[in-house]
Amino acid sequence: METVPISSGDGHQFVWLGSGDPQVEKGIASNQYAIIDSGEALLLDPGGYHTFARVFANVTKLVKPEKITRALLSHQDPDVAASIVSWLEIQPNMEIYLSTLWDRFLPHFALPGDAPTVLLPDEGKTIALPSGARVRFIPAHGLHSPGNFVAYDEKTRILFSGDLGAAMVPAGEWKLFVEDFTKHTVYMDGFHRRFLASTKAIHAFLKRIEGLPIDMICPQHGSIFRGGDVQRFLAWLSKLEVGFDFRSWGDAG
Ligand SMILES: [Fe+2]
Ligand SMILES: [Fe+2]
Repeated sequence: METVPISSGDGHQFVWLGSGDPQVEKGIASNQYAIIDSGEALLLDPGGYHTFARVFANVTKLVKPEKITRALLSHQDPDVAASIVSWLEIQPNMEIYLSTLWDRFLPHFALPGDAPTVLLPDEGKTIALPSGARVRFIPAHGLHSPGNFVAYDEKTRILFSGDLGAAMVPAGEWKLFVEDFTKHTVYMDGFHRRFLASTKAIHAFLKRIEGLPIDMICPQHGSIFRGGDVQRFLAWLSKLEVGFDFRSWGDAG
């Protein structure tokens, strides 16, 4: 599968690195992305064990392996993080950003004790890329993980949203960009209602990103929101009841 520059210019690119075909990939199909700045790559949710070969082949079309210097793990899930040991075998100095909550769980992915992790405090962190362009790791706790971050690339104004905006698109219907927002909500609804912790967590997140200029929202699953679909998605999210605010699974009724 090809790589697609979602936004680029001036030695700085936001790139899609290919999603798994739901008919072929083991497990949930997932998008991977990288921000490439002055020849160095920051991976955004590098992916599961079986995605490594594809993502590595794609990103090294754009940068040398030793220039894959950073990775964000938005949260702890296997579809986000299970490839991390493979990446460290290629680039042992790759800095791995993740919530302080998940640090002690990573050894279960066979992460070596001296792995170069950078723990993100609950309030998040802003980092500077080689050109000076900044990326903000913004808290989105409870959406769905209790230690969860999205990433905002100030230069391209793209928000990598992790599992927020995830859609379970049927095999054969997937498109890189959302084409029919109303139809797309059907594919998002079930995941958001079951996995997101609470409606309150959604509102706290939306308040946190209020006023942020966002040109695109890139989720880990499903399709990218651009143009009017960015605000359509945020408005849809603002009206959604999720988690136990929606219903109590397992209980009668
Ligand atoms: Fe997840
Ligand atoms: Fe995910």
